[in-house]
Amino acid sequence: MEEQSVKQCCATFYGSDFARMLLGDSFHPGGTRLTTRLGELLALSPQSHVLDVASGRGASAFHLAESFGCKVIGVDLSEENVRLATADTSQRGMIGKVTFQLGDAERLPFGSETFDAILCECAFCTFPSKPVAAREFCRVLKPGGQLGLSDLTRSEAVIPGLEGLLSWIACIGDALPAERYAATLQEGGFHVSHTEDHSDALVEMVRQIQAKLLGAEIVAGLKKIDLPGVDFATGRQFAQAALQATSNGSLGYVAIAARKP
Ligand SMILES: C[S@@+](CC[C@H](N)C(=O)[O-])C[C@H]1O[C@@H](n2cnc3c(N)ncnc32)[C@H](O)[C@@H]1O
Repeated sequence: MEEQSVKQCCATFYGSDFARMLLGDSFHPGGTRLTTRLGELLALSPQSHVLDVASGRGASAFHLAESFGCKVIGVDLSEENVRLATADTSQRGMIGKVTFQLGDAERLPFGSETFDAILCECAFCTFPSKPVAAREFCRVLKPGGQLGLSDLTRSEAVIPGLEGLLSWIACIGDALPAERYAATLQEGGFHVSHTEDHSDALVEMVRQIQAKLLGAEIVAGLKKIDLPGVDFATGRQFAQAALQATSNGSLGYVAIAARKP
């Protein structure tokens, strides 16, 4: 599939109500707990100006601003996510502290050396050109700026039951081993300072998705809700294959901290 279509498809899925039903507001394993951990690794303070790349519905951007007092800009390719996150800004009393705008991680709409820190959760693996995104991250960071990334890892080239477009949307399609992410960041101009495994958070998330799929299927079966276009059987098989892959170590989740020299 062409790069632009993959990106748009991923953005459309994560802008949908179905994604929110399955994942809640935080679209990554570990939820706000892991976001707090990344905020600590980034040594955020009220003086920090942070960019959240692929900010989704804004849960992490709000969480960082509330927890560390920093100013955050979220950028995402999904118009719907940007609209919904922006609508939440006033409700959360975050006007002036957190803003959202449309943009592509591979062509960030910001000047060079703008930010003290970048957060990028569960999205780097979906970018068709990771080296370009890594260079963009480095460009918009000030010298000495920090990057906190968390992402899916994949050690096998082919994982049975996890191929095709669904795997792209689920961020699995082009996920890499942790060392390959680190190498891509280094080549993009970063010094990788820390890597930690959070695969347990991925197992927990897949189990929650399985439970929610089952619940939605039961409710749809009782004809209480109409979910056109949702193929529960495929979703169920996919979640089962993902769980299998996490238990044999083919899939995992990692947090990486890196610094622009
Ligand atoms: C798995 S979600 C993660 C969202 C958010 N970081 C979180 O953890 O809640 C992936 C997000 O990446 C966004 N996205 C995908 N490709 C993108 C790109 N090239 N540039 C910016 N955002 C992108 C999608 O719209 C989606 O909101």
